[in-house]
Amino acid sequence: MPAVVVIGGQWGDEGKGRVVDLLARKANIVARYSAGHNAGHTIVNDQGTFALHLVPAGIFYPEKTCIIGNGVVIDPADLIEEITNLERRGVSTERLKVSDRAHLVMPWHPVIDAEDERLRGKNAVGTTGKGVGPAFVDKVARMGIRMSELQDPEGFGERLQFVLDYKNKVLTGLYGQEPMTYDSVFESYREYWSRLAPYVTDTSAICQEAMRRGERLLLEGAQGSLLDLDGGTYDYVTSSVPSSTASGAALGSGIAPNHIDRVVGVYKAYQTRVGNGPMPTEDFGPMGEALRDAGHEYGTTTGRPRRCGWFDAVAARYTVRLNGCGSISLTRLDVLDSFETIKICVAYEIEGRRVETFPSSRVDLEAARPIYEELPGWGTNTCDCRSFDDLPIAAQNFVRRIEKLSDVSAALVSVGPERNQAIIVDPII
Ligand code: GDP
Ligand code: IMO
Ligand code: MG
Repeated sequence: MPAVVVIGGQWGDEGKGRVVDLLARKANIVARYSAGHNAGHTIVNDQGTFALHLVPAGIFYPEKTCIIGNGVVIDPADLIEEITNLERRGVSTERLKVSDRAHLVMPWHPVIDAEDERLRGKNAVGTTGKGVGPAFVDKVARMGIRMSELQDPEGFGERLQFVLDYKNKVLTGLYGQEPMTYDSVFESYREYWSRLAPYVTDTSAICQEAMRRGERLLLEGAQGSLLDLDGGTYDYVTSSVPSSTASGAALGSGIAPNHIDRVVGVYKAYQTRVGNGPMPTEDFGPMGEALRDAGHEYGTTTGRPRRCGWFDAVAARYTVRLNGCGSISLTRLDVLDSFETIKICVAYEIEGRRVETFPSSRVDLEAARPIYEELPGWGTNTCDCRSFDDLPIAAQNFVRRIEKLSDVSAALVSVGPERNQAIIVDPII
């Protein structure tokens, strides 16, 4: 049985949580493999509306094992809060497992995040401010502290002493901030450990064993391919190592890449982005506002208004290929219900040239003007459609055009945030 990866094909918030919640019923294990609590995955099901940041979207099925893999950075206070909130609302976290190899977000990380943004000034990335980027920087710099280190007070204390001394030099010298005190950090992380210890284990061994038994693993991506360090719109990207694209899924969950046999890309029927950086189809006028209003486009993690524009098929074709998407889930089709006409970006114009491939250069991306194809809208409610044929012909044509331009088929079309508001064209798993 395969491992299936669900990734975001745009700049995040495509509806990955919603798609994973739907597909999880056919999986044995659901695992997050990248990023941290900068992610915000909304799930609407018969238990209510939930915004998950670290816990995988499979948690609503009591019989599924849910894993926070080694590729995730964990803010322990945030995870404890998430677990507590879920339990309080009647969602059991008994089958949640947390990787002992996962790195920790430490108290200096959000401070460094904010200070780096301040130093960048007008070129600020527009991060979520959660300290996730600096935590990955420390992981790569071999200065990260891993979950497993917390179990040994002596070893943790020694390590903390070294890292904190270093960080205090940075905090005071570079940023003019107050130093942090050893005792308070040590005590609070020991406290976090006492709460999280029952969840912590070698999750990669669990995934490998499940693969050996022929079970099905669903790997939940975070963020989006255009925010990826290598593939995205650098330097307006996130800093996850491993990558949030499908390529990071094996590494971040601790399985071999040849276990992955399917990748599903999640794409909104239009385009959004939170934070700064190039976005060729961003609409600064009333149409962008209309999309934001119709889709209630405000960030799940930070509440910031999302920048909105029409579907970018140039970017979609690029990320479909980058991830090896066998199919896509097209979400939020219903948001377009009331638009008279709907546009799709089919190419860019860059300094008088027609460009059909996604540029790597920021200068080109910033100069790119979208070339649109305009399609008639359908002007009717699609929320209750449950088969492709139920959709108005104009909506069917819109989906077909996206498939053609993006070079991929839509296995799932979603027409509302609730679990059952979906048209399953091909069951995927
Ligand atoms: P994620 O980060 O990719 O999981 O996406 P977010 O949860 O940040 O943002 C997606 C938003 O769209 C959430 O509020 C979902 O409840 C909502 N959503 C997902 N699919 C649909 C859909 O088909 N229609 C509508 N109207 N909302 C959807
Ligand atoms: P989900 O999983 C949307 C964006 C931030 C910022 C950039 C860097 O919910 O799709 P960071 O805090 O990661 O250093 O910020 O990345 N970003 C996201 N945007 N959805 C996300 O996650 C995001 N995670 C990070 O807005 O532009
Ligand atoms: Mg989100």
